[in-house]
Amino acid sequence: MSRSATRMAQIRPFYVMALLARAKQLEAEGRSIIHMEVGEPDFDSPAPVVKAGQKALAEGLTHYTPAMGIPELREAIAGHYRRRYDVSVDPARVIVTPGSSGALQLAMGVMINPGDQVMMADPSYPCNRNFVSLVGGEVCLIPVGHESNYQLTAAAVEQHWNDDMRAVMVASPSNPTGTLVEKEELRRIHQVVRANGGTLIVDEIYQGLIYDEAGYTALELADDLIVINSFSKYFGMTGWRLGWMVAPEPLVDGIDKLAQNIFLSPPTPAQYAALEAFSEETVAILEERRLAFQARRDYLYPALSELGFNIRSTPKGAFYLYADCRGLTDDSYQFALDLLEQEGVAITPGRDFGDNHPEVHLRFAYTADIAVLREGVERIARFIAKRA
Ligand SMILES: Cc1ncc(COP(=O)(O)O)c(C=O)c1O
Repeated sequence: MSRSATRMAQIRPFYVMALLARAKQLEAEGRSIIHMEVGEPDFDSPAPVVKAGQKALAEGLTHYTPAMGIPELREAIAGHYRRRYDVSVDPARVIVTPGSSGALQLAMGVMINPGDQVMMADPSYPCNRNFVSLVGGEVCLIPVGHESNYQLTAAAVEQHWNDDMRAVMVASPSNPTGTLVEKEELRRIHQVVRANGGTLIVDEIYQGLIYDEAGYTALELADDLIVINSFSKYFGMTGWRLGWMVAPEPLVDGIDKLAQNIFLSPPTPAQYAALEAFSEETVAILEERRLAFQARRDYLYPALSELGFNIRSTPKGAFYLYADCRGLTDDSYQFALDLLEQEGVAITPGRDFGDNHPEVHLRFAYTADIAVLREGVERIARFIAKRA
C-alpha cells in the first residue's frame, strides 16, 4: 500500500494554487481574469540573458557542471556584490543552486538536526517552513505586525530564543508584506543570534526590487551568516530555476557534498545565461523594470487604501501589498473566492502566509501593467459596493 510519510501532514497546500487553477479554468471558459495573485514578474527574461541561454544550448553546454556552479558565475556573483554594495565576497563562498529554493534546502539540510528549531516571522513565505520540516526541524513562528514593519526585531529574537533554537530567518524585502529590515536592526538581530550560538539566514531574493532607498546586503555586516538570493525576481528568470547562497566558510564543504547528492549541478544553460544578468545592457533593462514596479506600487497602494484595505506599513520593496481587510470582511479566503467568481480578479488570501490573523489579510501582487491594475481596482470597487 502506498502511504505518505508522517511529515506530509505538516506540509500545507499552497492555497493560492487552487485559486490559480480556478482562475485558469474561468479563463479557458472565456472570462477575463485580472491576475494580482502571481508571485513572479510579468516581464519576460531580459533579451541578453535569453540570447546567452540560446548560445549555450547551441554550443552544447548541456552537461553537468560542478555541484556548486561554474566558476565564472560564482565569480560574477562576487563581482556583483563588489560593484553594487562595495563588499568583498570570496567566490569560494558563493554556491549556485537550482532556484533559491535549492539554496534553502541546502541551508536547512546542512545545519538542522531533527528537533532543532528555526525562528521566522508570521506572516512570511510559507515554503521556508516546509524546508525546515523536511529535515525534521521545527519552525518557531513569531507573530509580527505593522509596529515592526511585519519583521522580526532583535528584541523579539532575544525574547523567543530557547535551547533548541538553531537559526533565525528573515526576508528583506519580505513576501507577503514588501517591507524591509533596517540595516541597524539586522545588525542587532545578528548580534543576538551570534551571542546565542545560532546562525542568521537572510533571504534577499527580492534584492534589487526596492523603491525608496538604496538598499544593502547582509554581507556588509558579517561573514558568519547565510545569504540566500535568486535570479528569479529582480533578474526576471523564474523559469530558469537558478539562485545562489553565500555561506560561512565552515559550511561550504558540507553544502558542496549535499549539493552533489541532491542536485548534482544547477541547470547548465541557465548558468551560462545568468552570466549576462550582470552586464550593463541587462542592468539597464532591469532598472527600467524596477521603476515600472515602483510606479505600479505608487498607483496601487493609495487606490486600495481608498477602497478600505488598510495597508499598515509602507511596502518598500518586492511587488506585494499586504492589506488588513477587516473593514471589509472577516473571511479573506471566501472574499478572494467570491471576488474571483464574481469579478474575475485573483488575489492571495492571508492563510497562505501563516497563522497570524490570516482571515483578515490579503496579498495583492502588482505583477501586471498599471492599466490592468486599474481595471482590477475598478472591479474590486464594484464587488465591494455590491456587498455593502
Ligand atoms: C521570500 C521567497 N523566498 C524564496 C522564494 C523561492 O524562489 P526561487 O526558488 O524561484 O528562487 C520565493 C518565491 O516566491 C520567495 O517569495
